[in-house]
Amino acid sequence: MKFFVDTADTDEIKSLAEAGLIDGVTTNPSLIAKSGRNMSDVIAEICDLTTGHVSAEVVATDFETMVSEGRKLQKIASNVAVKLPLTMDGLKACRTLSDAGTAVNVTLCFSANQALLAAKAGAAYISPFIGRLDDMNIDGMEVIEEIRIIYDNYAFETEILAASIRNANHVKLSALAGADVATVPPNVLRGLANHPLTDKGLAAFLADAEKAGIKI
Ligand code: G3P
Repeated sequence: MKFFVDTADTDEIKSLAEAGLIDGVTTNPSLIAKSGRNMSDVIAEICDLTTGHVSAEVVATDFETMVSEGRKLQKIASNVAVKLPLTMDGLKACRTLSDAGTAVNVTLCFSANQALLAAKAGAAYISPFIGRLDDMNIDGMEVIEEIRIIYDNYAFETEILAASIRNANHVKLSALAGADVATVPPNVLRGLANHPLTDKGLAAFLADAEKAGIKI
């Protein structure tokens, strides 16, 4: 499974990239707004911090403007993936940009049928929002499982990018459900390494080493 980090915070991205923990980055207009920076500048900087895809989202809602914004974003760097909303205009723009060789990440997906349309529109990635479905008492992981079955039934190459991930369990269940990528907030990604028994075991090893005066 590939890990993307879900943030526009370049310090967080830099430190996680240096740790070799990320395969790409996803942003959205809310994360860009939170960074307080100019979108083109921050996307360009992020694209230098990873060789993987960096998802940058259009802010238009009509077909023509989404395509022109997508082309502008694509020009920022070769590893930009253009993020488009799962609307009819978004799907039409996805087909146009994908046919031109742009990697498209179709976002705001909440059902298997939506994901089927995105695959047929040539999307490189589909982003089902697990956490926001769970917030609605809809089992977000079930949607991932359904998409996996449908995509495998028809050998669609669109990658399932599990998004709106809230905790470590979402990451594990996404991997078990066969998601290709999980985009994870920095704190959740770091937290995946945590386990109390690892800490307890390490402390015991170090105490024994200390007592025995082990030096390497
Ligand atoms: O970037 C898309 C998605 O991961 C946002 O998730 O629900 O935490 O805002 P959320």
